[in-house]
Amino acid sequence: MERTTVISPAEIEKQLNICQTVAGLTAQWPQRPLAFVDTYGCQQNEADSERIRGYLEKMGFGFTGSEEEARIIVINTCAIREHAEQRVFGNVGALVHVKRRHPDTLICLCGCMAQQPQVAQKIRESYRHVDLVFGPHVLWKFPEMVHALLTRRSRMFLTPDEPGSIAEGIPVVRQDSAKAWVSIMYGCNNFCSYCIVPYVRGRERSRKPEDILAEVRQLAEEGYKDITLLGQNVNSYGRDLDEPMDFAGLLERVNNLPGDFLIRFMTSHPKDATRKLFETMAKCEKVAPVLHLPFQAGNDRILKVMNRRHTRTEYLEKIRALKALIPDIVLTSDVIVGFPGETAEEFEDTLRVLEEVRFDALFTFIYSPRPGTPAAEMDDSMPREEKLANFNRLTALQDAISEEKHAAYVGKTLRCLIDGLSDDSRWDLTARTPGNRLIRVVGNPSALGQFRDVKITGANKWSLFGELI
Ligand code: SAH
Ligand code: SF4
Ligand code: F3S
Repeated sequence: MERTTVISPAEIEKQLNICQTVAGLTAQWPQRPLAFVDTYGCQQNEADSERIRGYLEKMGFGFTGSEEEARIIVINTCAIREHAEQRVFGNVGALVHVKRRHPDTLICLCGCMAQQPQVAQKIRESYRHVDLVFGPHVLWKFPEMVHALLTRRSRMFLTPDEPGSIAEGIPVVRQDSAKAWVSIMYGCNNFCSYCIVPYVRGRERSRKPEDILAEVRQLAEEGYKDITLLGQNVNSYGRDLDEPMDFAGLLERVNNLPGDFLIRFMTSHPKDATRKLFETMAKCEKVAPVLHLPFQAGNDRILKVMNRRHTRTEYLEKIRALKALIPDIVLTSDVIVGFPGETAEEFEDTLRVLEEVRFDALFTFIYSPRPGTPAAEMDDSMPREEKLANFNRLTALQDAISEEKHAAYVGKTLRCLIDGLSDDSRWDLTARTPGNRLIRVVGNPSALGQFRDVKITGANKWSLFGELI
């Protein structure tokens, strides 16, 4: 059986000692050591980058958004679609000029792209200014890698192919002071036929409930208000633990922690979303009334070739059960358009799911073949223009639904987390409804980071508008 590598506390301790050694080196540099961490992809990558920053801080680095100023550049990449990869290759390519001007700057590439052998090979051959390539399984030994680079100055490639590791105690520098990510598990066992994640993130492995609860407890004590539990498929949490525990059980225990905070989670897989989970959501007062439940396609034949292991009817029944328990539930989903072999009629089934469920928001993607996945070998003959036309119909339908759903908020007053300053001068702040819809708000910036009553005064298809009470 494939085994998770559990990284012992002693090994993390050793990494922290290496951080101190590196801090001794960076302290002697003529300029303040600065790092630039650039993150692509999903929240899991955001969470990983917060740990990379945690280690960098212990190594004496401050942070900059400028590649020119940085002495170390870390690019944390995503492999989910070709477009994501092309952006990374473009940006990494452009760093050759930075390296020419500042030969001492270390350039590191990590994350999901790095874990793919053909990408590592391409970087090795064609992007010679990249000093370090490492995959998600070895993030925990980042300090060791940086130390080796600073002292030996030869390129390094660390992308071991393993079922995955789990490490506790890595320091973290969070990007926000009110909202926090907490990974509860890593990897994925589902092997949806289009998806690269199981290949680059390894098998499902759950953190121990004690470790998760300790992290959330501390976040709540530090004043965090919005905590998102993360995993590729949180509904299968705990199956691999010595003392098995399900996700609903974990959610309840997180809910019982003291403090005034909201709990969110993502992503849920429909096949594993149970009635017990919905009941737990309904009774736990801290759990936000929102569910992101990707359905990908509305046609059963396509769902089968996607290896999703649920039917359209099963999906719709789960949504009905959830709506009965939590009438104001906010629903969001992911959809893939143009999966290999999807016909015009099969695509219509996807539109029908939208009409029936009436999601609050939808994340829509045109299918992108990922080398090494089964779908990449399937016959894919629908012309790109036709896929694009379907994609446009899908987004137009969803836009109309989102607009109607948003309009229904006008006149309501909701307790919302004030989560940012507005980048648009007509509004002072941004806020999130309990269901995570964006509101642009007029009001005093001193409310930042707090739960406040917001009166919704207007809406369009993208967001809500309101004022602080
Ligand atoms: N674990 C999550 C999502 C991971 S990726 C889940 O199972 O829902 C986020 C979304 O990207 C997926 O839900 C899917 O809609 C989309 N996606 C994944 N692989 C894709 C591909 N090859 N082409 C287009 N979209 C893809
Ligand atoms: Fe990819 Fe499917 Fe796993 Fe989600 S559940 S990460 S779509 S393989
Ligand atoms: Fe991308 Fe990896 Fe997340 S492929 S979507 S960053 S798990």
